[in-house]
Amino acid sequence: MMLLPTGSSNKASQPATMLLLLPMLLLVSVIKGAGAGGIGVNYGTRGTTLPPPADVARFLARDTIVDRVRLFDTDPLLLQAFADSGLAVDVTAPNGLVPRLVSLAFARRWVAENVAPYARSTNISRILVGNEVTTEANRTLLLALVPAMQNVHTALVAVSLHGRIKVSTTHSLGVLTTTERPSAGRFRDGYDAAIVKPLLRFLRATGAPFMVNAYPFYGLTHDTLDFALFRVNAGVMDDGSGLVYSNMLDAQLDAVHSAIRRLGFGDIDIVVSETGWPSAGEDWEVGVGADLARDYNKNAIRHLGSGVGTPLMPNRTFEVSIFSLFDENLKPGPVSERNFGLFRGDMTPVYDVGIFTAPETVEPVNTKVTPVPNSGEAMVERQWCVPTPAADEMVLQENIDFACSQEGVDCAAIRPGGICYEPDTVQGHAAYAMNLYFNTNGKHTYDCDFGQTGVVTSVDPSYGDCKFM
Ligand SMILES: *[C@@H]1O[C@H](CO)[C@@H](O)[C@H](O)[C@H]1NC(C)=O
Ligand SMILES: *[C@@H]1O[C@H](CO)[C@@H](O)[C@H](O)[C@H]1NC(C)=O
Ligand SMILES: *[C@@H]1O[C@H](CO)[C@@H](O)[C@H](O)[C@H]1NC(C)=O
Repeated sequence: MMLLPTGSSNKASQPATMLLLLPMLLLVSVIKGAGAGGIGVNYGTRGTTLPPPADVARFLARDTIVDRVRLFDTDPLLLQAFADSGLAVDVTAPNGLVPRLVSLAFARRWVAENVAPYARSTNISRILVGNEVTTEANRTLLLALVPAMQNVHTALVAVSLHGRIKVSTTHSLGVLTTTERPSAGRFRDGYDAAIVKPLLRFLRATGAPFMVNAYPFYGLTHDTLDFALFRVNAGVMDDGSGLVYSNMLDAQLDAVHSAIRRLGFGDIDIVVSETGWPSAGEDWEVGVGADLARDYNKNAIRHLGSGVGTPLMPNRTFEVSIFSLFDENLKPGPVSERNFGLFRGDMTPVYDVGIFTAPETVEPVNTKVTPVPNSGEAMVERQWCVPTPAADEMVLQENIDFACSQEGVDCAAIRPGGICYEPDTVQGHAAYAMNLYFNTNGKHTYDCDFGQTGVVTSVDPSYGDCKFM
């Protein structure tokens, strides 16, 4: 599997192939508590029909669980709109300003004019110095980055705002070398010592997070669609760490973590400053569609807020900001670039991503089959029972022992030599045994409970010759 892009393009290509190693269930979000890490939206304004900022702020504050918004500049109208809204606001010093911020005098003036006056009533919580500068392939920008960040911080100190407002910058995954294994993640050659180390030193000293724009959508193939969408899939083993990945976002975040830890800064927090999925695209773009965008964003929010963490960063939540709040019809590039929005210009949702404050109807993710491009088959609602992602191995082993001891449940396929024996993992065997038990007993939801370690899905966990009933 290739997890990470090469080259300097923002959202370059990512996965090519992947090993189908483990039948695993991934991210069926039965876990409550999404948003513990904070849910943000990226509020870009490159659209002709966007609503007035005051309406947007009121809507987000009153009708959604979004608690953070990121702006791509310091537009006074937007900053004023979020005054007393309760939302935290991240503002951006656009790339063009980065070389100028290398002058401390300029940085002081910029902060005094563009940030300080609004910080009294708007909860500005971060200044992002540039966007994806580390993959812009512009030496002037690159060399200016850390000095500019330092100066902005110094300017904040002068007006006593440094306690409230952190300074960071956002990176695309292109800041890492291409790697097949999350545990092998490292920064691009030549960047480690020269750029990234001073950057990490600055982030640690000021208590600011490392912010990454991560898009499993880019570089998608039909083979990696389930892995990217948090659906049931075969999983991918990182043979460096022995850990199994059930979704691409985890793999990307762990690659970032590995790279940071390699330089000795593993304690720095990681924030997902952008992730998202387009609801429409060109014919040749794999995996675009409103249903898929909804599933990805919903699953990403729930997963990152669930407290499960990633294989290398277990038991934690992540702050995540969805890209983007609105479809933006003035953006260049392929059709998908203009269709990342959760909302249309009239503030109607493109799909229901589950961020409204109104009580959500209880509907587990992944209970509907989403058409996979090229599948061409009529969709029938079939159901399987599989382990929850967080289920303990010891409990799963008990599930196997229990299910396989029941009358009518034939577990020959997961015994040595059986067609579903390989890969020999507790999760894989448990999925097979639990599903068989569920089917044999008439597919009642309660027959898939297994002490809350099982969950019903409509995504077929079969792989290779191993067919699930
Ligand atoms: C401002 O945002 C921060 C998150 O950065 C949050 O912890 C804090 O409670 C917010 N303050 C107010 C007054 O809303
Ligand atoms: C590098 O970025 C600066 C600031 O945005 C810009 O003025 C300059 O033209 C860029 N250089 C190149 C070679 O693109
Ligand atoms: C994560 O949480 C689980 C359950 O609370 C616990 O058993 C496990 O030891 C924790 N792992 C780490 C690395 O903290």
